[in-house]
Parts: sequence; C-alpha cells; structure tokens
Amino acid sequence: MIKKIAILTGGGDCPGLNATLRSVVQSCTVDHNIQVVGIPYGFKGLLENKFVPLTLANTTGILSKGGTILGSSNVDTPFRVPVKRNGQKEYEDRSDEVVENLREARVEALIVVGGDGTQAIAHQMAEKGVHVVGIPKTIDNDLNGTEFTIGFFTAVGTAVDALDKLHTTAESHQRIMVVEVMGRNAGWIALFAGLGGDADAILIPEIPFDLAQVAKGLNDAYHAEKRYSIVVVAEGAKPVGGEQTVSRIIEDSPEPVRLGGVAHQVAMDLEKLTGRTSRAIVLGHLLRGGSPDAFDRILAGRFGAAAVDAVVKGKFDTMASYQNDTVSLVPLETGAGKNRYVSTDSPFLKAAKERGILFGG
Ligand code: F6P
Repeated sequence: MIKKIAILTGGGDCPGLNATLRSVVQSCTVDHNIQVVGIPYGFKGLLENKFVPLTLANTTGILSKGGTILGSSNVDTPFRVPVKRNGQKEYEDRSDEVVENLREARVEALIVVGGDGTQAIAHQMAEKGVHVVGIPKTIDNDLNGTEFTIGFFTAVGTAVDALDKLHTTAESHQRIMVVEVMGRNAGWIALFAGLGGDADAILIPEIPFDLAQVAKGLNDAYHAEKRYSIVVVAEGAKPVGGEQTVSRIIEDSPEPVRLGGVAHQVAMDLEKLTGRTSRAIVLGHLLRGGSPDAFDRILAGRFGAAAVDAVVKGKFDTMASYQNDTVSLVPLETGAGKNRYVSTDSPFLKAAKERGILFGG
C-alpha cells in the first residue's frame, strides 16, 4: 500500500498542468488515501529537497488556471548540475542526492509531468530505482508514444484565434501575413493551426520548403481572386538545403538550442518573390499561456487518474499515453528523449494537401 507520492512539472509550462495536479490529488485522496506532495520548479526543487503538500483544499480552483502552481524549469537536471570550480564551469552528477531526498521524505513514487526532455530525466531516475510514472505534456505535441500531449490543443486554439484576427488585416490590405508558431523540430502546432485557421501555406520542419513554389501558388490564388494570403510557419521550418533559424543558445539547458525568427526571412523573401506586401508576426510564448481548453482539461484528468492507477498497481517506469481515444501505459523509455514528428502519411497532412494548402515541398 503506497502512502505518499510526489509530483513535479518539468520543462516549458503549458495550459493543463494545474488540471493535471488537481486530478492527481483527487485520484490519490478520493480513491486511495495517498498523501501528495509537490516539488517546486521541477527537478531543481528535488535537488533542493523542497516539498509542498498538495491537498484537495489547496488545489481547489486551479483546474482552469494556466501555467503550473508548482513552477517549472527547462534547464535543470540532477544528472548534470553546473558548478564553478577555480573560476571554471563544470558539471556534476547529483542524482544520488535526489534519490536520497525522496527516500528521506518517505516518498514512495514520483509522478513526472513533462515532455521528452523531462521524461528522459524521469527514466534515468527510474533506472536508479525510483518508482516513476510519467505524464506527457508539451504544446509541441512532439513526445513519442502518445498521439496527444496536454497543452497542445489549447496552443492550437490560441494560434487559430490569432489567425482569425490576422485574416482581416491581410484581407483589408491584400497582404501576405506570415505567422510563426512554436513547436521546436515538429510541425504539429503549425499543421493544426493552419488547418483550423484556414492558412494558404504551412511550412513545417518535416518538409523543407522552396519559397519559389509557395510564391507561385500564392500568386496563382491571387490571380484567381484570392487577394490575400496567410502563411503559417513553424519555428523549426527551414528552406531546402538551408538551416533552421536559431534565436539563442541556453548553455546549461539539456536542450540548448532555442529556435525563432524564421517568419521574418520568409516574409521578406515572399515579398520579393511575389511582388506583394508581406508582414511577419511571431506568436512565441503566447501559445504557452492561458486557460486550458476542454480537451486539455479532460486529457489532464484521464492522464492523472491513469498515472495514480499505475502507482497503485506498481507499474513503474511507465508513461500515460493517449492513442485512439484510449488512455493506457507505455514503457517510459518510449517517450524518454524521443520525439514524434509529422509523418508523410499523417492523415492531417493529407487533409491539408487535399484542401490545396501549400507546403513548399
Ligand atoms: O517545448 C515548448 C517550447 O515552448 C517550444 O515550442 C519552444 O521552442 C521552447 O519551448 C521555448 O523555450 P523557452 O521557454 O526556454 O524559450
């Protein structure tokens, strides 16, 4: 009989994390009489040996709130902690310490809510004997082993709202509006936002683009009376034979590259190629904010309940997964540091191509 578990949220925040915390507390308290403690700021808090009680009372009202009441970090891992020695930065493995912190706090299992990077750390912890269960979240929807992740649909909804608003300016000025969305190396947000927001072209990392092709398609549409264009570009998209646009390098982060800014080049190039006015807008972190939509709230509830069930049944080193409307468990290794990208046979890609949406490749 498990009496106490801990939960942390790691990686970039997203809508639906608080809904997940709420559902885990509800399942533990109502169904199993398990005490829950939260770890502040992801693995950083575990390293600092910090635990805060999570109860039905202090999680009431958080379900609809964006972000995470626990805080999160996308740069901290106990397996590679930066330290200064003789003025030099070095890294040390302090994972034994965090295992000991959990043992001393009498935590019998750890639920880790995160994307591929966080689940990779979770799996490393499981290999050290910690009883871990993962819950998939990321706006990018790029975690291997699950069809959808918490946060994705809310981010898509936010992008679609933005596209709806940009249609009017694009139409009034007969412009090409190039809208950049996050997603790292995956084109899921761009593809779904483009489908929902009636884009004329969608540029994704999985299909390197040829802008001459896109420009021709947009001008053909212009001459057929479609006087304005909406282009959605994923931050990780790149031209055929070219490179991704890097906005900065975060040295201490397990995934140091931050992408961003490709929309500006795409807008300038399309203006030259089409002879029409073009503007770029980068939605960026806007997509990570706000209240989770109904799908994310419900998914958070299902993942939370599945993770607690896994804990109770002793199914550790696993991750909750959503496939064909069913929530089940997959080995944690499936998601640990592994990504799922838009494949050439994706039904969503097919649906977009059938509507004549351009991909430039
Ligand atoms: O993984 C979520 C995400 O928002 C990506 O889409 C984006 O590339 C990255 O995180 C941004 O990271 P940061 O918040 O460190 O700028």
